[in-house]
Amino acid sequence: MALSSARITEITNAMGRANVLILGDIMLDEYWHGSVDRISPEAPVPVVEVQSQRHLLGGAANVAANISALGDRPLLVGTVGRDDAADKFRKLLEDKGISGDYLVEDGDRKTTIKTRIIANSQQVVRADQETRDDLSAECEARVFDRIQQAADHISGMILSDYGKGVITHSLLKNVIKLCRSRKIYLAVDPKETRFHDYKKVSLITPNHHEAGFAFGRRIRTEADLLAVGNGLLEQLKAESILITRGAQGMSLFRVGSEPTHIPTFARHVFDVTGAGDTVIATFVSAIAAGADPVEAAVVANAGAGCTVAEVGTATVGVEQLRKELERNVKNGILTSAEPQN
Ligand SMILES: Nc1ncnc2c1ncn2[C@@H]1O[C@H](COP(=O)(O)OP(=O)(O)OP(=O)(O)O)[C@@H](O)[C@H]1O
Ligand SMILES: [Mg+2]
Repeated sequence: MALSSARITEITNAMGRANVLILGDIMLDEYWHGSVDRISPEAPVPVVEVQSQRHLLGGAANVAANISALGDRPLLVGTVGRDDAADKFRKLLEDKGISGDYLVEDGDRKTTIKTRIIANSQQVVRADQETRDDLSAECEARVFDRIQQAADHISGMILSDYGKGVITHSLLKNVIKLCRSRKIYLAVDPKETRFHDYKKVSLITPNHHEAGFAFGRRIRTEADLLAVGNGLLEQLKAESILITRGAQGMSLFRVGSEPTHIPTFARHVFDVTGAGDTVIATFVSAIAAGADPVEAAVVANAGAGCTVAEVGTATVGVEQLRKELERNVKNGILTSAEPQN
């Protein structure tokens, strides 16, 4: 199937007007850039002379940044601590025009901060500060309260699970129940080790490693891909599973339909970090704009194609997306019945 130019216009015109709730593990990405010209006298390690620092929204917050870039309104639900990192995080949200109203503050938890020290363009070390325990019952109740407040006003929900403790077993159960009863589209970017908790959701977006791990079969061949995609669909009773396959594009599995494979275009790839966040954000945004799942996957693939061509976790706007989709239409390959390698 190829997406027509008229349909691209229709979908992209309708995008950018939805409220999308993002629930998950929020992170602050910190980068220290510098140079090295000596080894420390204290230990056999390089001494980095720091020249600049920058902060970016990470984890679930990067999904929110992607939703925001598309013109939709992200309602970001997650926890931050009562610390410097939380202040920096709120400032970043403010700069991007993303509301911090749905955040829950918990003084017993650290705001997750991942610090990368980069010298002469090479990462020297990463230092993580985080709390990985499950939320306390009290904190979880506050989080669920925020979700219930928002539920009447949203077209879709995205779970961005990095296994840091926000999406507890009981919260997940309650969220799934809520979405099912209110018919809210629920998309999950999964943590592979707890895959089997994501039951009866609208969409799950593992990459091929995560999907293979979850099903217990490595994806090496087309037969593996089909077995894993169809098998997970069946096991999890999901409406659809989108397996992202890096440079090979993505494969969409749906109940009652043949799988659809969407290749990427050869392009200069600068940085694939955050491509998964763009995929899920763009997919849900397209669904909210009336796209069917195959159309949404085509849109998401184009979105990811734009972000991998940029350095650093990047986001994509609707205009850029429209251009990329038009370019894809011209090149004539959008989806196929066979995976292409
Ligand atoms: N090298 C590449 N060339 C072109 N497109 C790519 C490349 N890598 C990734 N993509 C696009 O990004 C999508 C998601 O990439 P991938 O499968 O690596 O997800 P991921 O591992 O979840 O990423 P993340 O690191 O963000 O978690 C792919 O389906 C594809 O559309
Ligand atoms: Mg991912």
